[in-house]
Amino acid sequence: MTRYLITSAIPYVNGVKHLGNLVGSLLPADVHARFRRQTGHDVLFICGTDDHGTPTELSAAESGENVATYCDRHHAIQADIYRRFGLSFNHFGRSSSVWNHRLTQHFYRRLVAADLVEERDHQQYWSAVDNRFLPDRYILGTCPECGDGNARGDQCDHCGALLDPLDLLNPRSALSGDSNLEYRTSRHLFLRQSRKVDCIRDWIGQRDKWPTWVRSLALGWLTEHLGDRCITRDLAWGVPVPMPGFENKVFYVWFDAPIAYISATQEWADIDPGRRDWHQWWWDPSDVEYIQFLGKDNVPFHAVSFPVTLLGSGEPWKTVDVIKGFHWLTYEGGKFSTSRNRGVFTDAALDALPADLWRWWLIANAPENADVDFQIRRFAHDVGKDLADVFGNLATRVSTFTESRFEARIPIEGEPGPDEIRLAREVNDRLEALREHHENLEFRRAAAETRALWTLANRYFQDQAPWELLASDADRASVVTRFAANLVALCAAVSWSIIPTLASQVLAKLGSPSDRPTWPAGPAIAYLDANGGKPIRRIPPLVSKLSDQEVLGLEARFGGG
Ligand code: 2FM
Ligand code: ZN
Repeated sequence: MTRYLITSAIPYVNGVKHLGNLVGSLLPADVHARFRRQTGHDVLFICGTDDHGTPTELSAAESGENVATYCDRHHAIQADIYRRFGLSFNHFGRSSSVWNHRLTQHFYRRLVAADLVEERDHQQYWSAVDNRFLPDRYILGTCPECGDGNARGDQCDHCGALLDPLDLLNPRSALSGDSNLEYRTSRHLFLRQSRKVDCIRDWIGQRDKWPTWVRSLALGWLTEHLGDRCITRDLAWGVPVPMPGFENKVFYVWFDAPIAYISATQEWADIDPGRRDWHQWWWDPSDVEYIQFLGKDNVPFHAVSFPVTLLGSGEPWKTVDVIKGFHWLTYEGGKFSTSRNRGVFTDAALDALPADLWRWWLIANAPENADVDFQIRRFAHDVGKDLADVFGNLATRVSTFTESRFEARIPIEGEPGPDEIRLAREVNDRLEALREHHENLEFRRAAAETRALWTLANRYFQDQAPWELLASDADRASVVTRFAANLVALCAAVSWSIIPTLASQVLAKLGSPSDRPTWPAGPAIAYLDANGGKPIRRIPPLVSKLSDQEVLGLEARFGGG
């Protein structure tokens, strides 16, 4: 049986993430991890915070904290938010852990041994006012592409251009504003990626399960941009470079971040070494399928640069089998923006509404093949319709009827008729389709098929109208109620990967295992006809629809509309 190794791009530790970050990696990874566990697979779902890099240092400086303290605090804040969103990581580690320091240095040594690292002189900005080098985001200036005056040394947020600090016009220090900058030469290490182009092209050629656009993006990057990469920086916060002459430098954040997928697994294993072994997941395993979930900006690093590290080491590290990439979620027609605090952030989302409402909408509308716009009004309408009118209404109606008319027990009388045979056949077909969508990592389709099962169940109950049969044909009323109650449990079980809290609430009331419901197996007729005599409880309304007033309140709060 295949084991599933699942990683979600590790979010930068600085600041709370927005819904776009959530849907672009963390949430779909969780849904898939839950689905695979439900279908009986051994799953390891790893994530963590990306603690290094100049944005984090600058944020720490802004808040007047020492970087390590700042990272501790923000790591805990993010971990808590993800727990409340129901993200079921096996481990949520950190790129600044001792495990990651050790492993990053190990890779560095292997790459040196393979002659893939070269020392070169590199021109850097240096500020006399700040008395230091100014790498990446320590430099601000005018974007050479679009003319925006606040471009950063590594990227222009306005037009998205990837930049080198030396590209900026009118450069100035992000710390002091000093614009009287010097060029100074600094010694740096370069990863000779260009020597690995053929190796990476072959390797990509062997991955046949990547979405087409992810593959094109990766191959385009390989052809156009695969120059050698500077993997060190003149900074104090990061993984130290174990090399004489490099005492004041650390590795570049993008060198050590993906290594944290592995080192976080080592940390996880060290918590319970008697029962956990990281080698089984990462060291040449024969039965592991490795899936990475990430936003499109991260594709080149995962499809090209990280594989250079892994393959270049000459060791049998597990490399990714499937990269599931995501496009952007936009917010009310524009960009989500952390710096401008525009959009719905994950902490505020949880304060406003239960996690499953966000989870449902984001998965049902995941930006899998194109960008998707998030609008408060549309969100409120959709969750009201799907979760309140369809799923919630179904659960409450069937359980209330069973409670009041069958003394809170699933009725045992009566035999299934042609309508039940037809229903079971349709359930079988839909379940198979749903399973395939999950297996193929097609999240929007999986949500649509889940919704179709809810609708089918509602229609069956409505059409059969057991409340009318009570007087005329008590046995039919029983059969229909039994099938409907079991169908509600089935609907909840297969929705659990997307809306775990709501699904568990329903299952608990129906006396079914609610922690990790197993995926229904075998012909539907058997389990739809089961459980006669089993006690159940009434399921209160699960989700309330948002009033116009509440929608206006959310728009005012999040800046939508
Ligand atoms: O884009 C980001 O949020 C990065 N912190 C993702 C890093 S993923 C990997 F390299 F670990
Ligand atoms: Zn620009």
